[in-house]
Amino acid sequence: MIITLNSPLDMHLHLRDDEMLKVVAPLSAKTFAGGIIMPNLVPPVTTLKALKEYKQRILDTIDDENFDPLMTLFFKNDYSYEFLKEAKEYIGAIKLYPSGITTNSQGGVSSLDIASLKETFEAMSELEIPLCVHGETNGFVMDREAEFGDVYESFATHFPKLKIIMEHITTKHSVSLLEKYDNLYATITLHHLYITLDDVAGGMLNPHLFCKPIAKRPEDKEALLKAALSAHPKVMFGSDSAPHPTHKKECCGCAAGVFTAPIALQALTQLFEEHNALDNLQAFVSDNAQRIYNYKPLEKKVTLEKISYLVPQTYSNITPMFASEELKWSVKSVL
Ligand code: DOR
Ligand code: ZN
Repeated sequence: MIITLNSPLDMHLHLRDDEMLKVVAPLSAKTFAGGIIMPNLVPPVTTLKALKEYKQRILDTIDDENFDPLMTLFFKNDYSYEFLKEAKEYIGAIKLYPSGITTNSQGGVSSLDIASLKETFEAMSELEIPLCVHGETNGFVMDREAEFGDVYESFATHFPKLKIIMEHITTKHSVSLLEKYDNLYATITLHHLYITLDDVAGGMLNPHLFCKPIAKRPEDKEALLKAALSAHPKVMFGSDSAPHPTHKKECCGCAAGVFTAPIALQALTQLFEEHNALDNLQAFVSDNAQRIYNYKPLEKKVTLEKISYLVPQTYSNITPMFASEELKWSVKSVL
């Protein structure tokens, strides 16, 4: 059995910088045609100079490979209309983090009041720059995303022309918001389609599955699966592949993030096949994103075949999801 995917896109990707960038960027570039690159470096990407330099560092690691990094700025509420007008041609979106909510988000927004965000959101609406949001409060860990639902509803109502992407949704409630507001969209990760909190902490603690937002209940996973497998037109694949060195995962004070980029297409194909939904995989991994972002990707044909693939235990010093396990599909060719 064989399946060919056209121009797979990863609409939420952490490539990091320096040595780690050199390890992970080529792995994404191998099977994806492009992706939305997260700006949570230290310091975060907030100027066009930093953004252009970061993009160049990414391109330098992937040589001839055809991968288009769609850059993002780290949201600040003092970006002026003029700045955003100039930025528009260099970015795919702007990413908003509530301050301190996750890895390297200390410089994020400290207030979610409409008044403090209005000017920038209005400029983004007019310039048609999508807003990607890490939607969590700092409440009880299992309720953080649901509590943020009110913020999504308020943003969607006050700024009907702003395209808002609820990043890495993990709950049934977030899926339901897609039906309620025309301007809300979502990315879904690989790991949240596979795991619940039980896989993280129900047995022996598995630090490699610890991430933010934390995986939730079985009914939440079912709702995410339903949306992804049916190729819901408002959802896209975004891996949130977030590499950390193994020693920062297997320790006290484990960093949040699951590293999935190099095995994402194999594992997604396995999942969609198991649910008799292979016909919808193309929409989930590329077509929906192209339409939502109004984006034409580089051409890339990735063929997978149903031959088992042994996931490496590590990629350099990073442990991937499914390390040392067998997946049912492998990448046959990339053209
Ligand atoms: O688990 C996560 N890791 N969630 C995030 O939001 C950030 C990411 C990272 O950058 O490591
Ligand atoms: Zn992320």
